[in-house]
Amino acid sequence: MSVRLPSVDAKNGRGTRRAVKSDDVEWRLSEMAAGMERSRILSIAADVREMIAQGREVAPFTVGDFSPEQFGVPDDLITNMLEAVSSRQTNYPPAAGLPELRESLSRWMASRYGVDVGPEGIIVGSGARPVLYASFRLFIEPGDGLAHGVPAWNNHYYVHLTGAVDIPIIGTEESRFLPTAAGVAERIEEIRVLILNSPLNPTGTCFTADELGAICDVILVENEKRRQTGKKPVMLVYDQVYSTMTVQGVEHIHPLNVRPEMFDYTITLDAISKSLTGTGLRLGWMAIPPSLADPVIALIGHMGSWPARPIQQAVAALYAEPTSLDSFFADLDERISERMELLKSRLAEMKAEGFHVDFVEPEGGIYLTTRFDLFGMLGVDTNEEIRRWLLEAAGVAVVPFQAFGLEGETGWFRISIGAVSVAEIAAAMDRLVTALRN
Ligand SMILES: Cc1ncc(COP(=O)(O)O)c(C=O)c1O
Repeated sequence: MSVRLPSVDAKNGRGTRRAVKSDDVEWRLSEMAAGMERSRILSIAADVREMIAQGREVAPFTVGDFSPEQFGVPDDLITNMLEAVSSRQTNYPPAAGLPELRESLSRWMASRYGVDVGPEGIIVGSGARPVLYASFRLFIEPGDGLAHGVPAWNNHYYVHLTGAVDIPIIGTEESRFLPTAAGVAERIEEIRVLILNSPLNPTGTCFTADELGAICDVILVENEKRRQTGKKPVMLVYDQVYSTMTVQGVEHIHPLNVRPEMFDYTITLDAISKSLTGTGLRLGWMAIPPSLADPVIALIGHMGSWPARPIQQAVAALYAEPTSLDSFFADLDERISERMELLKSRLAEMKAEGFHVDFVEPEGGIYLTTRFDLFGMLGVDTNEEIRRWLLEAAGVAVVPFQAFGLEGETGWFRISIGAVSVAEIAAAMDRLVTALRN
């Protein structure tokens, strides 16, 4: 590759802008940054936004975000934030989070999920992502095994960021796309960190106590063996950002509910992004064994990824009042369920009419796993062609499971209901059925 120096404007000595060749870009970047993939979901969503801006009728079932018009955050959250801003809460917060926030989150985690790490075991970050990244950095050396279910949200990007060895554990329709204990057991000797997510993005399915207990047993047996040899243990990162959103009759299960012995090996991640529909407010946290707090605080502190003081103060006040939080969660569940029920009934009608459309019963979160097995009908071979047909012919914007690591032309797609009204869903399903019939 030829080396080119930036040209300099002779008069003022400033560098001038010019087109750069992509090999120049790679030359300057680290291998890690050069090899980083863009989020497929976000690029699909950008195309959809462009179509909507051009006046096309499209239902954006793509991003895992909430439109503030459809799903507002609690009013108290806004009032509390405004108060904090007007009382000039503008200086650095402590790296682990405001003490009152750590206190109220720890009480809430203990009473709601039985996860009792005390305030010293709660470390706050600006959303789930920084605490997720920090969790991996705490345990993973380049070359260590990072295991995750497939399909799943974004884990493969974190494998790349940490230089880990990718250990995908493929879920199937039979396992409701969740990783199983048998799948984990097959690779357990290579695993340093296992990340699990329930309710699962993209499928909206949740672990039962038996399923999760069986996975914990595999970890516990392996860690007992490793204790004898000095090999570092398997750590479990449990991402439960959708935990407050389960359908009626489904209970969110946490590893410590089924295997308290997992305490020392479990990092729990949560955030207000989904539970309070405040994706843009950027507050998440990890609940860790307090013995790990010091290194975590140092890492998070160096990342500088703490949320702004006003949102920390507002969330502290909100989580100190679990009763009003619970009524917010109940109301949110109803609005999610209204949308899911409509989608399910319209897709079931299409199936009954003979179209190759199906879905997996949702158990939690904001996603519906949907099968558009339209290969034969459209005479196409790939999910991508089906995705484009759904978008062009019906204004139905969905994400193929390849974006969640599940390779193969399976006909499986994720539908997200966070940014659509009930009326938009009805109109989209009308357009879809018309397109299918033509
Ligand atoms: C399972 C899961 N974990 C973590 C996140 C990231 O959440 P945050 O926006 O708080 O960083 C998401 C976002 O979609 C998610 O689906």
